Amino acid sequence: MKEAYVLLCVGLVVFPAAYGQSPVAESDTYTECTDGYEWDTQTRNCKDINECETIIGACQGEMKCFNHYGGYLCLPRSASVITAPEPTQPVESNEAFSPCPVGYEAQGESCIDVDECVLGLHDCQPSQECFNTQGAFTCQCTEGYNKIGVECVDIDECRYRFCQHRCVNVPGSYSCQCEPGFQLAANNRSCVDVNECDMGAPCQQRCYNTYGTFLCRCDQGYDLGPDGFSCNDIDECSYSSYLCQFQCVNEPGKFSCVCPEGYQLQGTRLCQDVNECESGSHQCAEGQSCVNVHGGYHCVASNRCQDPYVQVSENRCICPTVKPECRELPFSIVFRYMSITSERSVPSDIFQIQATSIYPGAYNTFHIRSGDEGGDFYIRQINNLSAMLVLARAVPGPKEYVLDLEMVSINPQMNYKSSSSLRLSIYVGPYAF
Ligand SMILES: *[C@@H]1O[C@H](CO)[C@@H](O)[C@H](O)[C@H]1NC(C)=O
Ligand SMILES: *[C@@H]1O[C@H](CO)[C@@H](O)[C@H](O)[C@H]1NC(C)=O
Repeated sequence: MKEAYVLLCVGLVVFPAAYGQSPVAESDTYTECTDGYEWDTQTRNCKDINECETIIGACQGEMKCFNHYGGYLCLPRSASVITAPEPTQPVESNEAFSPCPVGYEAQGESCIDVDECVLGLHDCQPSQECFNTQGAFTCQCTEGYNKIGVECVDIDECRYRFCQHRCVNVPGSYSCQCEPGFQLAANNRSCVDVNECDMGAPCQQRCYNTYGTFLCRCDQGYDLGPDGFSCNDIDECSYSSYLCQFQCVNEPGKFSCVCPEGYQLQGTRLCQDVNECESGSHQCAEGQSCVNVHGGYHCVASNRCQDPYVQVSENRCICPTVKPECRELPFSIVFRYMSITSERSVPSDIFQIQATSIYPGAYNTFHIRSGDEGGDFYIRQINNLSAMLVLARAVPGPKEYVLDLEMVSINPQMNYKSSSSLRLSIYVGPYAF
């Protein structure tokens, strides 16, 4: 590539420039030009001296001499030179010797643009902004302002700009704003829903984001508080007294049922008697039998036969007829134990008595011999051979009865009468279950 030296740029000027210099005197006879120029009497101008011709050996060695206004250059032979247009000398009036057009100023041997905006050489209004151009300047309004007369007036962009929710005009600009619960989208115009649940919404338990807002909800067993955020435990036990058979215990978010001692929970609300005799948790001693009752157990003597009775099998005693004292006593006593719940609805069949020995032609009668002084029971005969013990009153427990139920067998033909006794222990439990 060929090297190109543009004189407006290179710093190789040997002699000082003569731009702007005017002849020192104005007389025809004596005129002095600055260095590198000579007075031309014909054109009455200072004329550039071609030093390359007048100075012998102006450039040494391989350097080539290039004449230039007011001086000359020594440049490599390969260089080509682009010269600025020859300045006219002189220039009219007081700018007579400036070689640059209006709006430019000479710097060295070149003309550079004058920045009227920086130098304060403009006449822009305070509301206007000065923009420098090549050789001139313009007064413009900045973005967001309209030129009305000489003033720049703020444009109300909200009158024609689209904001999804709200537009706020500000000097020179505008902005879109969103309603609470929304945030400005990336396009700065639309509003998108804020997911408050992800942003730490104050829901105590469950948070549901909705368009523009959010909702708090509570887990099962809790009620939303009046503030809409907190969750309060529901006292399920206060709702109904039928939730639990025995006792309801409120717990955070739920409830549970408990049973009294001697019972265990069956399912969620029912109480079931614990059979201590079967589970082996009873404390009955040797020689005692365990009798399970509602809510507990009893220990009874395995052998309850008292003289003159003798034990013939478990729970059964007989009075041998050979013993004279046995003539007026029931022939046999059978021991039975049963447990009923408290406040049982009445009348209620609770025990059936059945004759075990059947004599043809005989008939049997049943009655309560002792233990029912309060009249809580009666006997309903079913037929010759059986009768039902009926509870007549709702009795509250805990309570214990020992009833002697007697069966009398009469055979008129044989003039024979015998009786046997059933000693029934009835334990009324403390609860209705
Ligand atoms: C939205 O506004 C912000 C801040 O003012 C700006 O950085 C961004 O470029 C704008 N986006 C659009 C799409 O205009
Ligand atoms: C039941 O009693 C009647 C008399 O009232 C008698 O005729 C009948 O034989 C008896 N039946 C039995 C099975 O004892």
